[in-house]
Amino acid sequence: MAREKVISAGDQEEAQEVSVVSPIEKEEDRREWNLRPHTLDEYIGQTTVVENLQIGIVAARRRQEPLEHVLLHGAPGLGKTTLAHIIAAEMGASIISTSGPALEKPKDVMGILSSLEVGDVLFIDEIHRLSRVIEEFLYSAMEDFQVDFVLDKGAYAKTIKIPLKRFTLVGATTRAGMLSAPMRDRFGIFAHMDYYSVEELKKVVERSARILNVPIEAGGALEIARRSRGTPRIANRLLRRVRDFAEVEYDGVVTQKIADIALGREMVDEMGLDKLDRAFLRTIIEFYNGGPVGIEALSATLNEETDTLVDMVEPYLLKIGFLNRTPSGRKATQTAFRHLGMAFHGEGEPLLPLAP
Ligand code: ADE
Repeated sequence: MAREKVISAGDQEEAQEVSVVSPIEKEEDRREWNLRPHTLDEYIGQTTVVENLQIGIVAARRRQEPLEHVLLHGAPGLGKTTLAHIIAAEMGASIISTSGPALEKPKDVMGILSSLEVGDVLFIDEIHRLSRVIEEFLYSAMEDFQVDFVLDKGAYAKTIKIPLKRFTLVGATTRAGMLSAPMRDRFGIFAHMDYYSVEELKKVVERSARILNVPIEAGGALEIARRSRGTPRIANRLLRRVRDFAEVEYDGVVTQKIADIALGREMVDEMGLDKLDRAFLRTIIEFYNGGPVGIEALSATLNEETDTLVDMVEPYLLKIGFLNRTPSGRKATQTAFRHLGMAFHGEGEPLLPLAP
């Protein structure tokens, strides 16, 4: 594994109770670092991304040059951080990890940049949250491997050029649209990560079960995969919950039936929806007659932050076709109505509850 140094912005652990199917990393996920793949060969899914990285890495290694800067884009929990570590390991380099909000002053960034050796990976998570000043500071670092550093202030201000070693910046973002065009243009490799298929997640669950020594049947792995919202981080978390339940209430073997009961108790339904997802859809259907409704109105009715709804709830509902985003607002689809046991009605017509 690559040597690693982490620079973080204090403790960002969330205080509130988070759902078992939240894609945001929890302490329990961090503890299971050994479940993450360490090489591209071990990596399941994201075939196009993995193939493109493989080619870039082999070519860079042959030329004995550092890899081009890489931008990883995708929802939380899909493996962006894991890939950054794999890139460093495959290049035989060290990795320094930080995040957009953690980088506040050019002086701090200067310290990090000047500590990088040739080929090292600087991983910046949430790169869309860099301040404008830092972003501009990074432009010349990425392009010319040098930075203009301003010493003193006012009349005595002096700019000195500081040369840097040729490093690789790996940026990760959930919102590529929020990156400025000059920043986006400085990445040579752009990798979009999509949600995993159920078959891929089943393989992830089976691999993790092997590492954790959990006896699991194919049906058990499939049931967990189906409810994991296309996200390996959630699949591994659900596997741990089902394992505990299987050990305490049964003989320890994870079967489909046990996975079904255990996840039902966690209020995760057959599509992987939790209480908030269902409340979100119900609100659109029952309060706003199926939509269209604006996100601000939904946020007020549900008493949830708009960002939580936009970042955590909507992406998966859009992906599975339960939600449509139209210029006039959010609309629940026919499939969403059916999933919640409500009869679909045409737009503007009164709502009909499904006959028992
Ligand atoms: N564990 C978590 N994500 C994984 C992936 N993409 N491949 C293999 N194991 C994983």
